[in-house]
Amino acid sequence: MSAPLAAGDPCLLFDSKGRRYLMNLTPGRVFQYHLGSLPHDDIIGTGDGSIHTSSKGSRLTAIRPRLSDYVLKMERGAQVVYPKDAGWVLVSADIGPGMTVLEAGTGSGALAMVLARAVGPTGRVVSVERRDDHHAHASRRIAGFFGEVPPQLELRQGAVEDVIAEIAPDRLVLDIPEPWHIVPEAAETMPDGSVYCAYLPTVPQVQETRRAMAATKRFIDVVTVEVLVREWPIEGRSVRPAHRMVGHTGFITTGRKIAGAPVSATDQEE
Ligand SMILES: C[S@@+](CC[C@H](N)C(=O)[O-])C[C@H]1O[C@@H](n2cnc3c(N)ncnc32)[C@H](O)[C@@H]1O
Repeated sequence: MSAPLAAGDPCLLFDSKGRRYLMNLTPGRVFQYHLGSLPHDDIIGTGDGSIHTSSKGSRLTAIRPRLSDYVLKMERGAQVVYPKDAGWVLVSADIGPGMTVLEAGTGSGALAMVLARAVGPTGRVVSVERRDDHHAHASRRIAGFFGEVPPQLELRQGAVEDVIAEIAPDRLVLDIPEPWHIVPEAAETMPDGSVYCAYLPTVPQVQETRRAMAATKRFIDVVTVEVLVREWPIEGRSVRPAHRMVGHTGFITTGRKIAGAPVSATDQEE
């Protein structure tokens, strides 16, 4: 059983129509919406998933947000990597406990949180952000979910280009506009067998990145995918795909760094 909701915890309120409201529980603060109000103090100390009644008699369910709920509802600085894409990043870049991951840019901190969870307390994520406002914003959002910036997550302000040689990461995860500039240095400094992963919204950016990877002759198994997720509402006998879905977000390109030129010519074709 999970612990009761405590002061400072992130909390998601669901109303009777399934609308979601995200907050960090703060003593003395009152949640207000069009169907009344509910003091945070009434929620603090109650169970995860507890039911409450607003001042106008409407029901609200208080539940601890999943990381994906939090990322989608939190206040954003930069555009976040959506949970559907973050899931594929974790699997295709093969990120797991104990690994060292270098990420850039931190942006709103959405992907950094997912990565920090995946590597766990025995791993290390260094997340680099060029802009000081994004760096500060991400730090607040991350602490808002975990209670503090987790010890395995180091938020650095600066450019990823200046950090990669020092970190020599097992996994490099980039959500920056021009990740191809760092490809030659990644090929020089990342350990053999490591994974380069770039998340990019447009085709020309993917082409530049693939070209740069091929030019180094140090990457194999280079793959670009797009992740499409379509929800199916199920209401009685009405079972069908949702009318709307998150359309295009980005392409995810991954490749494995190797010791020398690939043996297969197809690995180099662009
Ligand atoms: C789209 S946002 C990243 C969002 C992040 N992945 C998330 O899920 O919240 C891109 C960020 O990269 C930063 N950036 C761009 N180039 C960079 C570089 N070379 N080194 C570090 N950060 C960089 C930008 O300032 C911006 O905040």
